Formats: sequence, C-alpha cells, structure tokens
Amino acid sequence: HPLWLIVPAAGQGKRMGADKPKQYLPLGEKPILAHTLSRLHRAFPAAHLVLCLDSDDRWFNPEWVPFAQWQRVTGGAERMDSVLNALHAINAQEDDMVMVHDVARPCVTSSDLLTLYHAAQQHPSGALLAMPVADTMKRANAEQLSAATESRDRLWHALTPQSFRYALLRRALEHAVTGQCVVTDEASAVEALGHAPRLISGRRDNLKVTHPDDLALAAAIMASQVA
Ligand code: C5P
Repeated sequence: HPLWLIVPAAGQGKRMGADKPKQYLPLGEKPILAHTLSRLHRAFPAAHLVLCLDSDDRWFNPEWVPFAQWQRVTGGAERMDSVLNALHAINAQEDDMVMVHDVARPCVTSSDLLTLYHAAQQHPSGALLAMPVADTMKRANAEQLSAATESRDRLWHALTPQSFRYALLRRALEHAVTGQCVVTDEASAVEALGHAPRLISGRRDNLKVTHPDDLALAAAIMASQVA
C-alpha cells in the first residue's frame, strides 16, 4: 500500500511577524519548508507527497521537493480545510495510510516518523506523536487570573505527524466541517467520531516554529541532531 504524506503549508504564520509566511524563512541554507520535506523524504523516500499551498503563494520553489511523486493542492480557509482539500484531490484506496505533518515542524526525526508509521498501521483508529505535559497546568478566568489548576495526569501535548487510514480520516474531517466544530488537529476530528487514536511519545525537540525566537532554537536543535 502507498503512503500519502499531506503537508499543510497554506498558513500565513502571522505570529512570526515576518515579511513572508514562516515556512519560507531560512534555517541555515534553506527555508523551513525544504527542511521539513527533506526529513519526511529521508524516512519515506517512496511516499506520495501532497503539499497544500495558498493560492497566492509567491515563494514556493519546486526544487525544494525531493519526492518523485508529488502534487500541490490549494489550501483552504483553515488548516482542516487545507487537509480536506488534499484528501479530496488524491486517488487513494480506503485503507491506504495517510500521514499529516505541519510544514512548521522541521526538526522531526526519522526515528519518530517510523515509530509513528508502524503504530498507525497496527491501530485501527490511527496514531499521533505527542508528549506528556511536564508543566503545571492553569485554567484562567476571564480576567486572566489563575482560577484553577488542572490535573496533568494523562494530559498530553499533541504534535505532528498524525497518521490514519484514508477512509477514517476523510470521514472525520468531512464530519468536522459539516458540524462546524473547532478541530485544530486530525486526531480531534477522529475522536469526534468515537475513535481513540494511539498517543505515541515523541521527542521533545519536535518544535513547531511559531514565534521569531523559535528560528534560532530550531537551528540549534537541527545542529545537535546531526552531530
Ligand atoms: O499557524 P499554525 O502553525 O498553527 O498552522 C499549522 C499548519 O497548518 C502550518 O503548517 C500551516 O501552514 C498550515 N495551514 C494551512 N492552511 C491554513 C492554515 C494553516 O495549511 N488555512
């Protein structure tokens, strides 16, 4: 069975405050997007890539795509719409594996990618990389006062990639769109159908580049991983 890699890269990355979307900011010699695609390619050289790009994207360069088989699709209003556009554009079989990875996570390792892939194959509800919460979690009230402390028992951070069978993920995202529920990752849409994806403990350095400081951090992480 083929593996379909969906990379949503149609966001504006406004929190970065840069003059172009964050996936095009340089990290060493190449942009974040090129790093992310090369990490994915190293783990899954034969996969089929689906890249979601904004219709007005002026920065993308196809030379950054190392995959032999790939296609680009137009992104949607929200991340979930972009991923759903990708699912609708591909000619996948019901039980093909689909893996969704944020373009903004260039530090993901081959070892985490392969562990996740095998877990998702074995678990009918799919799997996601995640990290147990280490900090004490506060619930704020409307005045931003610390109103309560949430138990961190069994609380995890959801990372990407997240991986599911094609039919389940498509059904979940279509359901989420019609129900207008707020889903910020694939797993939440799958959970809304009554499924419980498996949490795979991933590396803490699978950083999501969001704020300007994250660029230097991502560069340091990548340097430490190569060493
Ligand atoms: O902004 P944030 O980092 O939360 O976005 C997560 C991912 O979703 C990014 O890779 C971004 O490019 C992508 N995205 C998208 N389509 C949108 C919004 C975000 O592909 N409409």
